[in-house]
Amino acid sequence: MRKKIVAGNWKMNKNLREGANLAKELKAAMAGKTVNCEVVVCPPFIHLALMSIIFEDKTIKVGAQNCADKPSGAYTGEVSAAMLASTEAQYVILGHSERRAYYGETNAILKEKVKLALENKLTPIFCIGEVLEEREADRQNEVVKTQIEEGLFDLSADDFGKIVLAYEPVWAIGTGKTATSEQAQEMHAYIRQILAEKYGETVANETSILYGGSCNAGNAKELFSNPDVDGGLIGGASLKVDTFLPIVEAF
Ligand code: PGA
Repeated sequence: MRKKIVAGNWKMNKNLREGANLAKELKAAMAGKTVNCEVVVCPPFIHLALMSIIFEDKTIKVGAQNCADKPSGAYTGEVSAAMLASTEAQYVILGHSERRAYYGETNAILKEKVKLALENKLTPIFCIGEVLEEREADRQNEVVKTQIEEGLFDLSADDFGKIVLAYEPVWAIGTGKTATSEQAQEMHAYIRQILAEKYGETVANETSILYGGSCNAGNAKELFSNPDVDGGLIGGASLKVDTFLPIVEAF
């Protein structure tokens, strides 16, 4: 059975105190509740070590939003996968469309990040998705296929089995315009088919594929009810317990 996951991507929001407060609130709100998915919080780097202390019972997992494409050394301002692992973070979002668009992250760079994340026993949440013009030209499948092939397909089947994918149509991120449930299912099924062709049915069936892009309390249940949608990567709605918890509870 593949894992169901709801991950909050805080992006560049919340100072240290605000982040700690949100984490504690979330922990308190979830206490005693049975949730049917893995819950992950991905704050900015500076929060990670503190989050691991707040969530020390590991009912909520901690993830980063990025890591360096080099193992260590003279790369001012970068944070390595090994450093992330030392904070007890377990996940790392890689290839988010904002990093691809604003920070020049190519599939070739991402391939290095994925390798370093895996070497350091972090689970990459690898993001893929088309921009609006590509969707309008009906090119979404080829775009997503290329991102997966170039970013991930040099991994062994064993290593690929450690990857979580997040399909995030760029036109749906932060826009309030969600992909329809049918669009999400169609793409997720297509992705699973590509994985099956490359790595076989078992790996394809065991890979969690999350949906991201304006996922909220109102649409999560329907999106997650699709057979190939295994959870969500949540941006805006992860910044408040009131809007995040109902998404976690949609499973
Ligand atoms: P959003 O962001 O939920 O605010 O649309 C999702 C994401 O970028 O991961």
